[in-house]
Amino acid sequence: MQWGKTVPESRPGVYVIAVVGQAGAGCEIAADYLPPAIRKRWLSNQPIVYIGCTTRPLAVRISEFYGHVYGMPSPHRGGQDVLLLTCDRRVYWAVAEDPAGAEEAMIGAFLTEARHLPFANKKRSKSASKLTKGHYAHMNIKKVGVLGCGLMGSGIAQVAATAGFDVTVLEQEQKFLDKGFAGIEKSLTRLVERGPEKGGLTPAQKTEAQSHLKGTLNMQDLADCDIVIEAIIENVAEKRKTYAQLDAIVKKDAIFASNTSSISITELMTATKRPERFIGLHFFNPVPMMKLVEVVKTIATAPEVYDTAVEFGARLGKVPLRTSDKTGFIVNRLLVPYLLDAIRAYEEGVGSITDIDEAMKLGCGYPMGPFTLLDFVGLDTTYYITHVMYDEFKERRFASPPLLRRLVLAGWYGRKSGKGFYDYADPNKPVPGEFV
Ligand code: 3HC
Repeated sequence: MQWGKTVPESRPGVYVIAVVGQAGAGCEIAADYLPPAIRKRWLSNQPIVYIGCTTRPLAVRISEFYGHVYGMPSPHRGGQDVLLLTCDRRVYWAVAEDPAGAEEAMIGAFLTEARHLPFANKKRSKSASKLTKGHYAHMNIKKVGVLGCGLMGSGIAQVAATAGFDVTVLEQEQKFLDKGFAGIEKSLTRLVERGPEKGGLTPAQKTEAQSHLKGTLNMQDLADCDIVIEAIIENVAEKRKTYAQLDAIVKKDAIFASNTSSISITELMTATKRPERFIGLHFFNPVPMMKLVEVVKTIATAPEVYDTAVEFGARLGKVPLRTSDKTGFIVNRLLVPYLLDAIRAYEEGVGSITDIDEAMKLGCGYPMGPFTLLDFVGLDTTYYITHVMYDEFKERRFASPPLLRRLVLAGWYGRKSGKGFYDYADPNKPVPGEFV
């Protein structure tokens, strides 16, 4: 059995289709095979489970597994040796040397993928996944390590645990773990209040997610992780030191990922002896809400490691977008100059803080204006990013305006410190500062 990413034109015989999860990049192909009612839900990004297949036993087994399946007549076009599986934003095809084994492999891959989705029946998933042994050719990530339980680390740990991975979060002091886990509790509660129909969780899913989460102060506890995602302080020396320690402890075939927003992944990877297994996974704040994860490869990243990382991003329920190791990647390359220009516009008297914020919300439909977003991201973080980006590109648009530097020097880091461009004495009614 070989696995690929696209269905080759030369293999006409699509034999089974299974769709689960939500629509997303790269899965338009699935829409071609879906009946109109299901296609509408797929294209409008609603959660769906759909199986259309030629073999009755497969449909029965998967429907037993999920409890709810929209059974459809087969969209097959003849041949018996190509299987198409579309699963949570991913498309796979398989060419079976032995057509008799194809169906089994199809079930295996489908269930392996699908058991991470929030609506999968975990109990059945365990027994069903026994079928998969030996069939699933992709690197299988089960245990996730997260370094740092701050805003980003705790968010990453939360989404990984919610997706069904066993997650261990490493911190230096218990008080940081406590704070991060309190944030996770708060966020999971908000998601339960939201409810599954609006993309939130059921109380049972919250409990399940929490059961997958563990905090530790001992790096040895990450030794058997399949992937370790670092989300510690944005400081090259600190990160390199941590990676070097980690490299000696964590199993050799594990993948290392950094959530850095601007530091070169290449510079970090050279602190380890596994450059080919090193990638960037850049999440966005608030991690449980923002759909994107940028997956960053370096010139040394092995293709199968990169593919596995992209798949892992999708299994977390995110939309993984591929990018390369250029400082700022895609989002910060565009976002940072925009935020800095907002500060310059304010310094030049173009508008007040609230007017600039309102202008971008009302004129462009942005969920937050630039000053609210700056305070949300953290002015210290933004200031640090400007340094790295300016250092890389030597362009004024990435340089910190004086006002940003003044606020950081004063310790006004934004929402997290209670004061930034706004004063958050009453967090529900931020009051804009006057700085010019
Ligand atoms: N966990 C769970 N639920 C959350 C949440 C969290 N952390 N944050 C917000 N929510 C939920 C709320 O409970 C609410 O649910 P409801 O609709 O059921 O009531 C819903 O999200 C909307 O929240 P609010 O009503 O409080 O506020 P907004 O409508 O403004 O939404 C927001 C909040 C999703 C953060 C939205 O303002 C937004 O998308 N802002 C832009 C954020 C952004 O640009 N992030 C990227 C920053 S850049 C970055 O991270 C990269 C780095 O490298 C710099």
